[in-house]
Parts: sequence; C-alpha cells; structure tokens
Amino acid sequence: MKLFPVYALNAITITKAEGARVYDEQGTSYLDFYGGHAVISVGHRHPHWVKRIEDQLGKIAFYSNSIHMPIQDELANALGRISGKTDYQLFLCNSGAEANENAFKLASFHTGRKKIVAFKKSFHGRTSLAVSATDNPALIAPVNETSNVTFLPFNDEAALQEYFKTDGHLTAAVITEGIQGVGGIQVATPGFLKLIRKLCDQSNALMIADGIQCGYGRSGHFFSHDYAGVNADLYTTAKGMGNGFPVAGVLIHPNIKATVGMLGTTFGGNPLACAAALGVIEVMEKENLIPHARDAGNYLFEQLRTLPVIQNVRGMGLMIGFDLPESHKNLRKQLLDEFKIFTGEAKPNTVRLLPTLTITRAEIDELLSALRTLTQGTQR
Ligand SMILES: Cc1ncc(COP(=O)(O)O)c(C=O)c1O
Repeated sequence: MKLFPVYALNAITITKAEGARVYDEQGTSYLDFYGGHAVISVGHRHPHWVKRIEDQLGKIAFYSNSIHMPIQDELANALGRISGKTDYQLFLCNSGAEANENAFKLASFHTGRKKIVAFKKSFHGRTSLAVSATDNPALIAPVNETSNVTFLPFNDEAALQEYFKTDGHLTAAVITEGIQGVGGIQVATPGFLKLIRKLCDQSNALMIADGIQCGYGRSGHFFSHDYAGVNADLYTTAKGMGNGFPVAGVLIHPNIKATVGMLGTTFGGNPLACAAALGVIEVMEKENLIPHARDAGNYLFEQLRTLPVIQNVRGMGLMIGFDLPESHKNLRKQLLDEFKIFTGEAKPNTVRLLPTLTITRAEIDELLSALRTLTQGTQR
C-alpha cells in the first residue's frame, strides 16, 4: 500500500525534536518557526508534557465516554481557569474541523436555524460544514456545496450590517477567526468583533470564535478574540491545545442548552489526550507563556519592521505574517536551505511565523540575523 499524499512535501525527514528545534536523519538541526503549523505551543517534547503522557500511559490510555473520567473534569477546570471562561462547558473531540463541525451543530440545534456567516479568506477545516464555511472552492466537493453559508468580506462592518438587515433572523451563527491564519495573518479589528457580537445578540444568532490557530495563548491573549473585549457563545480550539497530541474542544456558553445526545465521539476526551492537554496548560501557567508570547512577539514584530524587503508586517504575539516582493519570492526556501529555519506560508507571497510559545530571544535573533543576511544590500 502506498501513502496518500496529504500535502506537497519538503524533501526532509525529521526524526527528533526538542524545544524550538527539530532534527533530520543526519542530525542536522532546524529552527522551527512553523511549529508544525501552529501546533507546538510549549515546545517539542517538553519534559513535563512527556511525563504527563507517560504517567497516564501507566494507568489507562483509553475508555469510552460511557464512564466517568475524572481527568476530563480536571482538564475542563484547568481550561476554564487559564481561559477565564470558567462558566462554559467543554466538549472534547479530536481535531479542529471536528470542533467547528460540532459548534455549527450546536448553533443550529440552539437556534433552530440553518444559515451560517463566514468570511472571505477564512479557513475552518476540511469536513462537511467546516469546509463549506472555508473560503476556498478548490477544497469544496460537490457534496459540500450548500446555500446555507454566506461569505462576507472580512472586517467590513457595513457589509455585515447589510446582511443582518435581511437575513439576521435566519442565521444560526457567525464564525470568525480572531486572526485569519491560512488567509495570510489578517487580524480582525476590535470594532468588527464587537459588531458581530452586537448583531448576533440582536438577532439571537450565535457567535463562534474559531481559536484553532490563533488561540491557546499564541496572540498574547488566551483567545485572540479576547483583545476585543467580547465573549463568543462558542469557542473552538485544537492545534496548540495538545502540543502535537490530537485533542480539540468546543467551549459552550452557559446560555446554550446543550443536552446529552446532541454531540458524541468515540475518541474525544480520552485520558491520554486529556493528560497531554493538561500538560500543556500546566507548562503555560508555570512558565508564563502567554505574557511571554506577547513580549517575544512584540520584539520580533518591531525588528521585522526595520528590515528591508519585508512588507506589511502584521499579526499579534507569536502569530506574525509579512509579505515578500517578487524579487525575494524564494526567501522561505533560502531560510530553509541555507539557514535551516522552517517557516510557514500563505499564498501567494506571505510568510507566516508560528513558533512555539517558549521561543527565546536568542532563537528570534537567529531568525532575524538570517533575514538580515538574505535581504542585505536592499534599500528599505
Ligand atoms: C483556523 C482554523 N480552523 C480550523 C482548522 C482545521 O483544523 P484541523 O486540521 O485540526 O481539522 C485549521 C487548520 O489549519 C485552522 O487554521
């Protein structure tokens, strides 16, 4: 049997990882500013995270959700504590798409409505309704085509108001990332997030905050939406939640009547996943990683803005993007080939930086020095 090709591959085989570094078969070290696509939150193989999983393996790895598992309550309490959403309920599942799928279902169950508002350049996952709410026609199979999803321009308050005038009463939910990731690191303005909240309240629709890439402390806030001072009805989370262990969740506002049987899962909330997720939260709290993400991100941001070539630096905390002119379109490849630094991308010309929240000043300086070398001789 051959493997199905998931993505276009870099010709590198990574066999070991530690902190912000990964290593190939020959032992070559790479600095990871991609974080396995924003997944690595507390560093590759953080010792506490490893120990949490190992300890749990020595007890029980899996049982079905038909029994009481105290470690799930422990995770819900810890997540309430670190996010500040103490009165929400937590539904545990396995991936970002699954979290969004279940958030849509809850919104539809709760409101009895079918319509979803999503935004241009959004990415919400590859499954049924999640992909329909993803603004990329290439990913949408005929079976996923639906008239229930309306795409509006991101950060366009007038367009949102116009839509709500006619279709607000039919709308189950508005879903938005606080910072669009795949869409090229576009930050939602506080005014836009506040308006979504207001219009949803007026029409009894729900606000879904997709925190899958921009959440879990990456922006310097637990959810990047928090900086606008609004609470969503549903938050979805995955990626950084497990630091590489597949675990995801939906945080459900107490006003939403979510009852037994509405949602279900075999693997969601298994003890190993809960142990990994608890390990992440404990490290984030002990090492003050959320303020660190803010400070380290500010430093990186300010330094990037002084470099020639690099355009439109944007983002928050350790979720930063910048654009490359045609003359430097190979810069990402050069960073990888010549300086052994992984970064992310967004088409057509955006570099995305999504390092572990434990990234140090020295590691940031290593990236900056490589960027300086690659752009030197060019006028700002
Ligand atoms: C904002 C956002 N939502 C949802 C998803 C889907 O998550 P998953 O790949 O875990 O299904 C992603 C993945 O990149 C994402 O960035």
